[in-house]
Amino acid sequence: MNFELSEEHRILQKMVRDFAEKEIAPIANKIEEEQEIPDDLIKKMAELGLNTITIPEEYGGPGMDTVSFALAVMEVARVSSSVAVGMSVTNMVAEGIYRFGNEEQRRKYLPKLASGEYLAGAFALTEPHAGSDAGSIKTTALRDGDSYVINGSKIFITNGKKAGIFMVAVVTDKEKGKKGISVILVEKGTPGLIIGKKERKMGQRGSDTVELVFDNCRVPVTNLLGNEGDGFKIMLADLDGGRIGIGALACGVMRACIDEMIKYSKERVQFGQPIANFQAIQWMIADSVTELEAAELLVLRAAWLKDRFLKGENIRFTKEASIAKLFATEAANRVAYRAVQVHGGYGYIEEFPVERFYRDIRVTTIYEGTSEIQRLVIARNILGE
Ligand code: CAA
Repeated sequence: MNFELSEEHRILQKMVRDFAEKEIAPIANKIEEEQEIPDDLIKKMAELGLNTITIPEEYGGPGMDTVSFALAVMEVARVSSSVAVGMSVTNMVAEGIYRFGNEEQRRKYLPKLASGEYLAGAFALTEPHAGSDAGSIKTTALRDGDSYVINGSKIFITNGKKAGIFMVAVVTDKEKGKKGISVILVEKGTPGLIIGKKERKMGQRGSDTVELVFDNCRVPVTNLLGNEGDGFKIMLADLDGGRIGIGALACGVMRACIDEMIKYSKERVQFGQPIANFQAIQWMIADSVTELEAAELLVLRAAWLKDRFLKGENIRFTKEASIAKLFATEAANRVAYRAVQVHGGYGYIEEFPVERFYRDIRVTTIYEGTSEIQRLVIARNILGE
């Protein structure tokens, strides 16, 4: 067992940290205020390979591993959760196309995601009445000659405004329940794909979250990803990787909270001394660092397992990805709470970054599967083993 990052991982980590500090941190608040990530930032990230880290070079990606992906998301999330979630979801969509798409689909879409020509990818699963119970989606895609005609709606779609390509879960056979679900790739601008209302959110406001409406949206049958009826498993399998990204995002936010707690507690003087001298504050910092280090290990273990799975080993990482997401996102909420507490009244006003971190982290125990769904996945995997 080796707990050291490789030289390659350390170089990548430093490169992303420098980039995040130089290019993202100075505009992180502006991104939230304007509720928009500048296109040129996404293009700069694409130039560095950050939008499609795990996609092989032959399809335009840098061909790095999932450990690299997790490290990069951590560094970006340390300065902006909004940018980190967009990057993580785009990589998840690219991986979905890479793992389940045919050669033509890979060649057509992956270079566009990798180069930044497509600013993002979107993963369209959730519907108004189908959140945790994703298998109960109702959006239909009916075959008509060489096309599918899609009708229905999706909500809470991350990257929906910026995405060039959408991975859309649809029902192609109503009689077959979850085995009648398929995934269809829909390009931005396809007639009948309407980008609906953009949500106003508690946090991660720079990341766009929109409603999608499909009104007789016609796409060629060649846009079917995998086989008809395999869609539910494709979406869940792809989400296993996405959950590692959200766990990594939570680690990045935790680290940012801890940095702020340390800085503030050394500067803030009460009762004649820096508050860092008080055991109440020290314990909050100690508990936070302990939880961060545990979370990082769980996220990196899940990433390492996924890499072994992708290399063809006969192992699964579903349970480990859910454990990593569950622990990291719950811990990050506790850490953000403490970070505000250490700052006292200053933690509750916008001038101090912990106010944003506290709001930004809240959604991480909800999207890409709530903590309750992660527990369900973990328990099912244990009891089924
Ligand atoms: N990988 C591959 N296949 C899987 C799988 C996985 N991780 N998990 C389950 N399956 C397979 C099962 O083996 C089963 O196959 P068989 O029919 O051949 O036996 C099939 O899928 C159906 O599985 P279940 O019966 O277990 O399905 P379920 O209806 O009980 O649901 C669930 C399982 C875990 C609750 C699932 O619905 C789930 O994960 N829900 C949460 C949805 C979610 O995470 N949404 C997030 C939206 S995307 C998002 O948030 C992105 C963003 O924008 C930030």
